[in-house]
Amino acid sequence: MKFKYFSLAIIAILGMVACNYESVDKFVDRSPNLPENSFEYVYDDNVPDYVKGETPIDVTNAKATLGRVLFYDRTLSVNNSTACASCHLQNKGFADGEVASEGFINVSTPRNSMAITNMFTHETFFWDGRIDNLKEMVLMPIQNHIEMGISSMEMLVGKVEAKEYYPALFKAAFGDETVDIDRISESLASFVGSIGSYNSKFDKVKRGEASFTSLEAQGEQLYMVNFDCDACHSLSTTKQGQPGDGFANIGLDVVDEDPGRDGMFKIPDLRNIALTAPYMHDGRYKTLEDVADHYSIAIKPNKNLDDKFKQPQYYGTGPSSVRGLNMSPQHKKALIAFLNTLTDVDMVTDPKFSDPFDPN
Ligand code: HEC
Ligand code: HEC
Repeated sequence: MKFKYFSLAIIAILGMVACNYESVDKFVDRSPNLPENSFEYVYDDNVPDYVKGETPIDVTNAKATLGRVLFYDRTLSVNNSTACASCHLQNKGFADGEVASEGFINVSTPRNSMAITNMFTHETFFWDGRIDNLKEMVLMPIQNHIEMGISSMEMLVGKVEAKEYYPALFKAAFGDETVDIDRISESLASFVGSIGSYNSKFDKVKRGEASFTSLEAQGEQLYMVNFDCDACHSLSTTKQGQPGDGFANIGLDVVDEDPGRDGMFKIPDLRNIALTAPYMHDGRYKTLEDVADHYSIAIKPNKNLDDKFKQPQYYGTGPSSVRGLNMSPQHKKALIAFLNTLTDVDMVTDPKFSDPFDPN
């Protein structure tokens, strides 16, 4: 029986490939609307170090402008159906609100789309951290057989060259009109890395420009001290952020379906977390209440469970080894009020990160 359903699924997928591989022409004729004077993408002295990170990329406004167009351009998928922005939406903190995301042939990604913020401070990318170089990383979704499906880099260059709006953008960014893979990846990485968050209420409080309500302040205390969330999800505003360096297992299941990285998953940056639901590498939790309930009472005795969630006196991996955080309803309310202060309205409404193409 099982085999039969499996074969049917394969036939269905092949059918979809055959039917939908053709160009989605309604998007083909769009041109971007760009302002006469470029937006400022290059980080200036007012931008804190925990956003800038260390990057080998020499970001310029012209490169990031080109990167913005590439990020929103459906031409970068084999059938002109899917852009980076199809799965990374500005108003959702550049996540997409789906458990899994549909790629160019209506097949879903195996994992939940990730938010994009302060990428220059990250040392590894993807839930399993399988790559450590942002310039190489940004080409991977284009080649991915589920996401955008352009396996040949010559084809990518050809598709970009064929668009009348690119020569001027490449010339402005690199001095001449030549389109090549290195320039495409450098521009995309410049744009993606410029998506920085440092104007949330949390940041403003740290700069002395705003103050927490008493509930938010209680939540901060729980986050930083009692529950020590910050040990993993560091929100340091004094040194460069660590999100992106760390991996852990938080006991979502006794046995993981997804191998992750040696049974662990990338510790996500919690900036804009209120906008980036659903949560976890498989998008299993719809709300921050669900996430709090997980840490409170639902942690499973996974063999890779982080020591932070283990009883100190147990060395085994049985159910009694787990140490949940047993949050009271008031704790949850305060913690979530604090997490809501990480939303950066400036970042998610800034026109320089928005779609330059007319919707059609
Ligand atoms: C079909 C949906 C889809 C498309 C299209 C897509 N992405 Fe993603 N993106 C994802 C998913 C899903 C993940 C997590 C994948 C994983 O961990 O295996 C991800 C992860 C990322 C990350 C890693 C973030 C982190 O914290 O490690 C970045 C950066 C990113 N995408 C940028 C891009 C860029 C640039 C493009 C276009 C070239 C793009 N994405 C196209 C779905 C998509
Ligand atoms: C031991 C390190 C560790 C600690 C401590 C920790 N987390 Fe996490 N957290 C993770 C990892 C790893 C994930 C991703 C797990 C996965 O998808 O498999 C995660 C996921 C999350 C997510 C979902 C993020 C997303 O983008 O999907 C939220 C929200 C979250 N944690 C909040 C918290 C809060 C609040 C605390 C404190 C009560 C906390 N975490 C403590 C490691 C940790």
